[in-house]
Amino acid sequence: MHFVGYADMAAAVSNAGGLGIITALTVAQPPKGKEALRDEIRKCRQLTDKPFGVNITLLPVGVPPDFDGIVQVLIEEKVKVVETAGRNPEKVIKQCKDAGMFVIHKCVAVRHALTAQKMGADMISMDGFDCGGHPGEEDVGNWVLLAQASQELSIPFVASGGTATGVQLAAALAMGAEGINMGTRFMATKEAPIVQPIKDVMVKAKVTDTTHVFRSLKNTERVYKNKTAAEAVSLLMDDPSKPKVLIHPNDELQFIPMLTACPELLPLLHAAGVASAAALAATCSSAAPVHAALPKVARAAPITGVLLARADYAQLLHCPDLSDGTWHEVPLPQGMPTYLSCAAAFYRDHIYTVGGGAPYLDGKVVRATCYNLRDGTWSELSPMPTARSHCAAVGCCGRLVVIGGKADDDQPLDTVEVFDLAQGEWECWSCLPMGLSCCSAVSVHRLHSVVALGCDDQRTHLFCGDLAAKEWRSLPAMPRERWQPALLELAEYLITIGGMVHPDEDIGAVDVFDMRTGQWTSANHGLHVQKLESEKPGDFFAIAHLVKGENYRKSFQETGDSESSVWSCGQSIGLIKDIPTCQELLDRMVVEAEDIIRNRLQSKL
Ligand SMILES: Cc1cc2nc3c(=O)[nH]c(=O)nc-3n(C[C@H](O)[C@H](O)[C@H](O)COP(=O)(O)O)c2cc1C
Repeated sequence: MHFVGYADMAAAVSNAGGLGIITALTVAQPPKGKEALRDEIRKCRQLTDKPFGVNITLLPVGVPPDFDGIVQVLIEEKVKVVETAGRNPEKVIKQCKDAGMFVIHKCVAVRHALTAQKMGADMISMDGFDCGGHPGEEDVGNWVLLAQASQELSIPFVASGGTATGVQLAAALAMGAEGINMGTRFMATKEAPIVQPIKDVMVKAKVTDTTHVFRSLKNTERVYKNKTAAEAVSLLMDDPSKPKVLIHPNDELQFIPMLTACPELLPLLHAAGVASAAALAATCSSAAPVHAALPKVARAAPITGVLLARADYAQLLHCPDLSDGTWHEVPLPQGMPTYLSCAAAFYRDHIYTVGGGAPYLDGKVVRATCYNLRDGTWSELSPMPTARSHCAAVGCCGRLVVIGGKADDDQPLDTVEVFDLAQGEWECWSCLPMGLSCCSAVSVHRLHSVVALGCDDQRTHLFCGDLAAKEWRSLPAMPRERWQPALLELAEYLITIGGMVHPDEDIGAVDVFDMRTGQWTSANHGLHVQKLESEKPGDFFAIAHLVKGENYRKSFQETGDSESSVWSCGQSIGLIKDIPTCQELLDRMVVEAEDIIRNRLQSKL
């Protein structure tokens, strides 16, 4: 449990007859990283001679944790029990099993439990909808989930989520579980490393005092219902007055049909020597040919950099398929961070991602990665000199050019950094004439140039960077706002589609810049426009300040202010009536459960 699962808490639970769990990611933090986890395990050994475990959570968090290092520490410290939780546990389960550990995998759906069973997990912790922390997206309560688990699983399981009493312990055993996993109830114990005011709030709370955040990001978390959580929920909802995103992979808007439906654009394409929208796709393909035998996503890739590809919260890159206009997902490998608003570029059979900002991370990142479409492998480039999100990246003449974006303090960046793909080195170019947040860029091979486009509050600025001189010149600005549109270049026509426009503007319009005449023209009302439904993913950055881990830690350990952070707790909060020691709590739960099994159930025979 984040900010709860320290050695003292784990030892108190183990000494009381439970299996205390240290939370690896809470402890293995900079500057000591995995060594801090080693210290915590050793400390726990001094506090208890009973068994305890370590939790490894594989959910999206900021800086990618050093999972290999964490597992290595567990092996070296001869930890006997590990609890895994979250996505893609296969590697960690295997590493732990190979080292002889007992692996409990915690999950929220029986089909995930069956997968973990196949992967070699020894036990499942079935987390129902009522649990604190992450209940998943399927909303199945324990009453049904446990019954299903007992029908389908062949390995033992414990009931997790919603438990605070011995009655529930007896019920869980009756449902086929071997025991229970409890989080929320332990927060209101004497030993919990949480300041008294929060514990007092928990004693007063009702079962209805929790809510869900991050639902629209598909990373639902059940938290205490307070004003900060309410603000985060409302910021993640779609607001009809906000600019609309026209081209977004989740909308499955079809690129080719959209262009075909845009009669005013077609003459321009003809003028550019392109016969039809289908030919446009072919042009893009031939500009960067990819072997036909490659999988679908690879064939889709030639326009990825032009159209849109980005890592989103669900750890996916989205690629459009040229053959049928649908979107496909390129799953990121395990351990790949979920950097929101990174830039992605397609270049010579590779997709590059650079920068971004990570959930729960205060700043932006310098990370640059490369996906090889030919063999489906990921690799790391050396880190960019400047951390940034919302930047543009474009491949051109053997280089990856990274332009503008937002700095750590969210201010627009005017810096341009270029990665030489042959040398494997970054160099800094001369700066843009102005800072450009939310950039788009495209290469214009014939002119050995890249063109960058970015907004301020009135207009969309356009700059042309000469690859030989490494210098920028201004081109005429687009006379309106268009944030991060798709940007295509066809025979020196720059075509901008979608992105975010002011609510008063037509989001279906296509703006075209003729690089020879320096003129902008607008083809209005041409595109089929699909409005976003409510609860589509909002920008995580809009709520990052509200859900910072540091606020959470401060509420628990310093201020005791239950309103100023978003903190996990389950519906069992409403069952908490006092603040006992762990021993008192477990003793009375066991007595209560035994009484029910011996007397009440017996009397029903
Ligand atoms: C404050 C808090 C922090 C938690 N942090 C984590 C975590 O970091 N990793 C994890 O796998 N589960 C975490 N959980 C979930 C618990 O480990 C446990 O599965 C859950 O609390 C059980 O449901 P209950 O709270 O209804 O008892 C957390 C729960 C709470 C209440």
